[in-house]
Amino acid sequence: MIRKALPDDLGDIVTIHMSGFDGFFLSSLGPSFLRTFYMDFLTDENGCCLVDVEDGRTVGFAAGVIDPSSYFRRTFRRRWPRLILGSLGRVVKNPAVLAKLARRALTYPSSSSHGGSDSALLSSIAVLPEFHNRKIGERLLDAFLEESASMGASEVVLTTDRHRNEKVIAFYKKMGFDVKRVFTSYEGRYMYELALDLDRRAVQ
Ligand SMILES: CC(C)(COP(=O)(O)OP(=O)(O)OC[C@H]1O[C@@H](n2cnc3c(N)ncnc32)[C@H](O)[C@@H]1OP(=O)(O)O)[C@@H](O)C(=O)NCCC(=O)NCCS
Repeated sequence: MIRKALPDDLGDIVTIHMSGFDGFFLSSLGPSFLRTFYMDFLTDENGCCLVDVEDGRTVGFAAGVIDPSSYFRRTFRRRWPRLILGSLGRVVKNPAVLAKLARRALTYPSSSSHGGSDSALLSSIAVLPEFHNRKIGERLLDAFLEESASMGASEVVLTTDRHRNEKVIAFYKKMGFDVKRVFTSYEGRYMYELALDLDRRAVQ
């Protein structure tokens, strides 16, 4: 069953994030940081966070926002003390993380071509590994697209790795996403920006 996420789901969302995005920058900042990071997806009026629950267990989530540029600036201003506190262990070990965090928060959506007020950003989607390939990702993404359209978005955009990421790319293409842009992130990762036109999807 797919439903809107509640604050009580944050622990499960963080666990699923850590299992799905092992080795990624945000995961490296730790569970406490991730709780704060995801909080606004649940509570901000432009946030959209959905979970899939199977037999009482939360096994997947999709999180994103409408009008990402303004959302990320707002959430960083609102939450920066907690975000920094949440990632303190990592920041103490490597102070450069702080600059990277600020740069990401303030420039991430606007550094790509998307970010308009009628655009939704799918920030994360993940399913627990033992529940992969049961169409849960597909159902979560469908629900996210519906919800974004109902919140006034006319397109959904996302970024994903271009290399060694065939499954995820096949997943998004099957769901109707097209390549909008290729770029190299400032960390040197080869990336795709993918987009799906919600108006066109509605008439198909
Ligand atoms: C991406 C993810 C959410 C997909 O969830 P899922 O529930 O396993 O996916 P589904 O069962 O709904 O799969 C739907 C489609 O994905 C593609 N897919 C799934 N497994 C695949 C595989 N092993 N190889 C190629 N394509 C695959 C197929 O197109 C599939 O459709 P089909 O079964 O009709 O061929 C999941 O793999 C995941 O959590 N990955 C880790 C986190 C992540 O990378 N998220 C994306 C960040 S950009």
